[in-house]
Amino acid sequence: MIRNIIHYEHTGSTNEDAKRLALEGACEGTVVVADSQSAGKGRRGREWASSPGGNLYFTMLLRPQMPADKAPMLTLLMATAVVRAMEETMGKELQFYIKWPNDIVINGKKVCGILTEMTMDKNMIQSVVIGVGVNINSREFPEELKDMATSLLLESEQIDGNARLPEGRELLNSILNCFESSYDIFTKELDLRFIKDYYEANLANKGKSVKVLEPCGEYEGRALGINDDGELLVETKDGSVQAISSGEVSVRGIYGYV
Ligand code: BTN
Repeated sequence: MIRNIIHYEHTGSTNEDAKRLALEGACEGTVVVADSQSAGKGRRGREWASSPGGNLYFTMLLRPQMPADKAPMLTLLMATAVVRAMEETMGKELQFYIKWPNDIVINGKKVCGILTEMTMDKNMIQSVVIGVGVNINSREFPEELKDMATSLLLESEQIDGNARLPEGRELLNSILNCFESSYDIFTKELDLRFIKDYYEANLANKGKSVKVLEPCGEYEGRALGINDDGELLVETKDGSVQAISSGEVSVRGIYGYV
């Protein structure tokens, strides 16, 4: 994949920039990175706090030739790449977990969010943009996020010997390297068998009680892991196993966010 990095000091949202560039014909491997965003977007219409000062905000443009129902797996692929890159740049003193499908958490608090958006034309994927926000140096969070959010800086201060903090650019390069090598395999295999063990080894919800929030109601169960398509397997109270796909459904811990 040819990598083309476009850097802005400030922008609205790197996801919006990447979608605009996609419409203008930009190729797969285009990456928009910004030092700050005024309209950073989170999942479910939320805002993503994007102040300047050494956090990482970027979006990668892909043009995958695959059925649209395979695209949600790209988000899990990116989550895995972020964890690998954090381990590569910071070592293994901190435990990085994935809260299915794609939040990265440390000590039960979110340090990275991923927002994937897909554009279709006549049933064909036109583009997929994957936006990643990593709190590297933040010390303060909006009031409503205080109990749920953290940064690599805050977490590394918690451990003896302070884990080394990566620069944004270093972390970005490492994430892109990890993502690109697994993307090559994924576009051939179209399932997640090749990263399933690693994903599950880092899955925060594994073996835990979870609450599944569906548009039409909610139920509790125990998360067993993922299947080859990246769906979360949840064993319900009657012993049956449900495969949950991301999208409209969200999963919470029984006693909190993870
Ligand atoms: C989430 O809600 O967990 C997803 C957050 C995604 C934030 C990133 S920051 C870079 C990119 N640009 C955006 O506007 N959003 C994503």
